[in-house]
Amino acid sequence: MDLQNKRRVVSGVNLVEVETTKQLESIISAVSRGLLQTPKSLPCWLFYDSVGSKLFEKICQLPEYHITRTEEQILRTKAAEIIQGVSQGLSLVELGSGNSGKTRLLIDAILERQATLHYIPIDISSEFLLQSSIQLLTEYNRLSVTAMAAEYQAAMPILAQQSISPALILFLGSNISNFDSGEASVFLQQVREHMSPSDRLLIGVDLVKETSIIEAAYNDSSGVTEAFNKNLLIRLNREIGANFVINQFDHWAPFIESESRIEMRLISRVDQSVSIRDTGESYDLSEGEYIHTENSYKYTITHFNEISQAAGFEIEQQWQDERGWFSVVMLCPRSSKET
Ligand code: TRP
Repeated sequence: MDLQNKRRVVSGVNLVEVETTKQLESIISAVSRGLLQTPKSLPCWLFYDSVGSKLFEKICQLPEYHITRTEEQILRTKAAEIIQGVSQGLSLVELGSGNSGKTRLLIDAILERQATLHYIPIDISSEFLLQSSIQLLTEYNRLSVTAMAAEYQAAMPILAQQSISPALILFLGSNISNFDSGEASVFLQQVREHMSPSDRLLIGVDLVKETSIIEAAYNDSSGVTEAFNKNLLIRLNREIGANFVINQFDHWAPFIESESRIEMRLISRVDQSVSIRDTGESYDLSEGEYIHTENSYKYTITHFNEISQAAGFEIEQQWQDERGWFSVVMLCPRSSKET
């Protein structure tokens, strides 16, 4: 892969911008490919422009969106115990850091034990990443931040070249849910490959529960998830000259039990045709036809443990909320236990 890194310091934050082949692959080709499929689909990485990232922050605060709150509650009550199990002199890496909200609980717990901390957040939305990092530096004077604007896959090899071990790598918010099972396995294996024996991976996983509770989380009554989903169309109108009429689409995110996943959909309200200036193509949608924008898989503990073990990890410890809705799992690269 052709990697080009730009490094600079902005308001005290070391910012590394990694361009990847995938990001360089134009939105245009990804969109035209997706819209030719049946069912039509659009890639979920398109959600996270700066408007999308802000809407996502709002999703996390919704009363129906239990994921963030439940994970936060687990981290709040268990942070000290979680950190206790990891080596001293830690660095903290976070894949898909967003606003680093819940991370503060772990940063606090680590700084109880050590004088300084190097925090390396990695996120695809570079503007948002930088703002969140600057904010963190104003809150913590014992923190140094290297922010990497990149996709996870591109960031891991670069990380491995830096001496950051022992590192605690965070993958929170059930972001693992947005991979299908093949992608999740590949992702876990890739992270595993780049880990040293003393590194640990802490993952937040949303668990299977009653369908009505799952669906409410992705179809909130105030319409924030709807706005988040539709922002993707607004972005395509702005960036590649599409002419989606936003109110001719409905948001609906059903839980598909056979796949154990939520599907984020944009359903065409009418027979319509959409044209995209930059692809030079137009696409017909019939009434009721949907564009699939994302999946969110719900795991059982057993299934999650199986894929982690298959990817070369050992489950070191696991924490759950009282209702059994969410699990925070500490994974240890297997060979470090064997040697
Ligand atoms: N990974 C989280 C989840 O699946 C957050 C998330 C990603 C999300 N995309 C989303 C939440 C779309 C709501 C809508 O729940």
